[in-house]
Amino acid sequence: MPIRIIQGDITQFPCDAIVNAANTTLLGGGGVDGALHRAAGPGLLKECRGLGGCPTGEARITKAYRLPARYVIHTPGPVWRGGRHGEAELLANCYRNSLLLAEAHGCKTVAFPSISTGVYHFPIRRAAAIALKTLRERLPECRQVEEVTMVCFSEPDWAVYQAALTEL
Ligand code: APR
Repeated sequence: MPIRIIQGDITQFPCDAIVNAANTTLLGGGGVDGALHRAAGPGLLKECRGLGGCPTGEARITKAYRLPARYVIHTPGPVWRGGRHGEAELLANCYRNSLLLAEAHGCKTVAFPSISTGVYHFPIRRAAAIALKTLRERLPECRQVEEVTMVCFSEPDWAVYQAALTEL
């Protein structure tokens, strides 16, 4: 299964494309968004400014600057509003559209954070099931992407994703 779950800091994970749990302005923020912008340096925000934002569930690609990657793929996840506002579909779109962009840019390795499960309060068990189901469905359609790594910041998050992977 070309999906790995690790615990770590995604800003230090060498790969072709690092996915950023962004917001729709693409102008940075806290959490992993803030960490990636700090590690990438000012060039990342400068390039993002020219993109004009990104709707929830879609994805945009930039260079990675000082990050150990070729690209950063920015995707705004849904804010959890109780689960009856299309959140599940929008979260699945984040993973699908990010994978499509990575594929179109010839990326072999892609790293994802746990999108929407921090500031956006998406329940992590549901998010993990959606993330892994979407990746398992879409990876066979990829010719370039060979490996996807979920980089979980905390050990408890890692355990949730690891359990979800075995339940796939
Ligand atoms: N490496 C890997 N994962 C990280 C890192 C890091 N350096 N820093 C935080 N995370 C994890 C969090 O622990 C959480 O599990 O990323 C996951 C997503 O949390 P957030 O970064 O809060 O993202 P999200 O819930 O999607 O909210 C997005 O937060 O930072 C702002 O600008 C961002 O407005 C947007 C919102």
